Amino acid sequence: MSQQKALILGGRTGLLGQAMAHTLAREGWSTLKPFREELDFFDQKQLEKYLDRHEVELVVNAVAFKNVARAEDEQDQAYLLNRELPRILGSVCSKRDVYLLHFSTGFVFDGEKKTPYTTEDRTGPATVYGKSKLAGEKFLLENSWEKLLIVRTSWLFGPFKTNFVHKILDMAQTKKSIDVIHDQVGSPTNTLDLGRYSLELVKKKTKGIYHVANKGQATWCELASESISCAGLNCRVNPISSRDCHEKAKRPSYSVLDCSKFSIVTGVQVRPWVQALRDYIYYYQDRV
Ligand SMILES: NC(=O)c1ccc[n+]([C@@H]2O[C@H](COP(=O)([O-])OP(=O)(O)OC[C@H]3O[C@@H](n4cnc5c(N)ncnc54)[C@H](OP(=O)(O)O)[C@@H]3O)[C@@H](O)[C@H]2O)c1
Repeated sequence: MSQQKALILGGRTGLLGQAMAHTLAREGWSTLKPFREELDFFDQKQLEKYLDRHEVELVVNAVAFKNVARAEDEQDQAYLLNRELPRILGSVCSKRDVYLLHFSTGFVFDGEKKTPYTTEDRTGPATVYGKSKLAGEKFLLENSWEKLLIVRTSWLFGPFKTNFVHKILDMAQTKKSIDVIHDQVGSPTNTLDLGRYSLELVKKKTKGIYHVANKGQATWCELASESISCAGLNCRVNPISSRDCHEKAKRPSYSVLDCSKFSIVTGVQVRPWVQALRDYIYYYQDRV
């Protein structure tokens, strides 16, 4: 039997894209991760030819303009990547009846809630990043087809590329203390868990919006402290307020995701973020 083929946008260099490529390959998929020079994602005709030539069955979109602070000043670029690209992918994949797994974010919410956000909750992003990601989701949903899957996730860490946890551990090796924000709460998530969980949804041929993250919640401060303690380092974490960072973007103070819809559909319980963090630190941290 020939291998199923997946095209992974962001599969060469992205934090999540590389984890998705790794997970798909482990599950027996043939993974296509073209360089930008090989395939221009924004060229619809080129993209169509590529999908046809390689008989792609699944497209994973892990490309995004993800820098929340920079997006405030580079709105055109943020909308190009976060809204225009999903629009193009939606148009190409729907015509060919190809599965599209598109990643989005808990930053599409306003952060005012105090209990985990469900997929039914009202969106209301305050940042350009959140607004442009929501615009991408809307474009896709307006032209939805049977094989459209949108996975919102949160606060990623994992192998293959630097990330918040990796940066904290780097700093903790040389500093006696570090300042970390204490008034934002999210769902820390291991990219390899997210990869496995997302594939469960694909296997079940699920469509629509799902929230997928590790279980539980933390502040950036708690995530940093747990990482440092797990790595056996000796560095003090000083809690600071978001206001002290003088950032233009107003990040949601609460973006914890309720993943119960995912568990009901797949029968899989997401594991706690602390466990997922330990796996990352023990097994992968040295290899980044
Ligand atoms: N990281 C998080 O904490 C987090 C949380 C919630 C949701 N998400 C979502 O998860 C998804 C993946 O995020 P990530 O953290 O893996 O992002 P990432 O590490 O920044 O990767 C983004 C990927 O997009 C590629 N890219 C950027 N601009 C491009 C362009 N103009 N043309 C082609 N490729 C381009 C990058 O390639 P280059 O390296 O060549 O620039 C990179 O491979 C996104 O949809 C994001 O919204 C992430």
